[in-house]
Amino acid sequence: MSIIILAIETSCDETAASIVVDGRVIKSNIISSQVDVHSKFGGVVPEVASRKHLELINDVIRAALETAGLGFQDLSAVAVTYGPGLVGALLVGVAAAKAIAFGLDIPLLGVNHLEGHVFANLLVEPNPPYPLICLVVSGGHTDLLLMHGPGHYKLLGATRDDAAGEAFDKVARVLGLGYPGGPQVDKLAATGNPQAVPLPRSYLEEGSLDFSFSGLKTAVINYLHRAQQRGEAVNSADVAASFRQAVVDVLVHKTFAAVKLCATRSVMLAGGVAANQLLRAELAARAAEQGVKLIHPPPELCTDNAAMIACAAYYKYRRGDFAPLSLNAAPSLPLGQDSY
Ligand code: KG4
Ligand code: ZN
Repeated sequence: MSIIILAIETSCDETAASIVVDGRVIKSNIISSQVDVHSKFGGVVPEVASRKHLELINDVIRAALETAGLGFQDLSAVAVTYGPGLVGALLVGVAAAKAIAFGLDIPLLGVNHLEGHVFANLLVEPNPPYPLICLVVSGGHTDLLLMHGPGHYKLLGATRDDAAGEAFDKVARVLGLGYPGGPQVDKLAATGNPQAVPLPRSYLEEGSLDFSFSGLKTAVINYLHRAQQRGEAVNSADVAASFRQAVVDVLVHKTFAAVKLCATRSVMLAGGVAANQLLRAELAARAAEQGVKLIHPPPELCTDNAAMIACAAYYKYRRGDFAPLSLNAAPSLPLGQDSY
């Protein structure tokens, strides 16, 4: 019998619901973005996000069922992101999922948002060759993981300051681009010269798999200030291209240092920054050169969505790893450690 999971994702500024069958077949993937609401503030305003989730959640769930051509009675389980994220935003999804689980008397599955990003890969490749290295690059995280199987993570390195996505968003802001900045910097960078502006690459100590992007971000800000003080014109596309190249150089270098260290033959890519065109192209080139298999979700499954949550939930369902109805939002939930 098929396992039909409704998943809900409200950890940040996307209200999303999806129906996935057997952890693989996406029947619907509804995302109601709040970008327009937050962009006038230059970033996500937590209180506004919670209120918007409340307004949107029922319609988004209804749309997920309608698009899938299914009713509540068809569901095997309901899954929800319960951390990490904005507490007020998470609570809206958690409350909705608990009400559905209680009302229908079906299992409730609590999913870690980052684990969802990792599992977006299993929507395209359900049997990746383990062990593998997974690079998680989102708005809040930059992690290198060694995975021995679904749900088995060893953290090899993480950012010591800004996450990669955060750096993209901040550089976008100083360049006067809109929010979220990553996609805009990516687009503008495609028209610029990546060698035009000399920017630092932070590789940290010999052998370290940690990251640091705040020095790079500061270097971009200083470059722009200096140009302004001297009254020099700035070519924004060149700045964007040079910045993107500096981020990607470090991400690719450290990912393949991890591949070498752990002697793995495959790499997975996860999180919003995984949609970056240069990162995908340079990882693909290096992987081909070294005979390493590269797996990544299509760009629309890299950024926040609920299909990835349904996929992660499917593996929990099969293990019988259900959450109690007392499930609460866990805004700082670490990867691999459920809080229930
Ligand atoms: O994973 P995600 O959707 O949300 C979090 O869990 O944080 O990641 C959002 C981040 C934002 O910082 C956004 O600017 C960045 O991913 N991002 C990108 C691109 N698309 C989204 N960064 C660089 N290039 C992109 N194409
Ligand atoms: Zn995310």
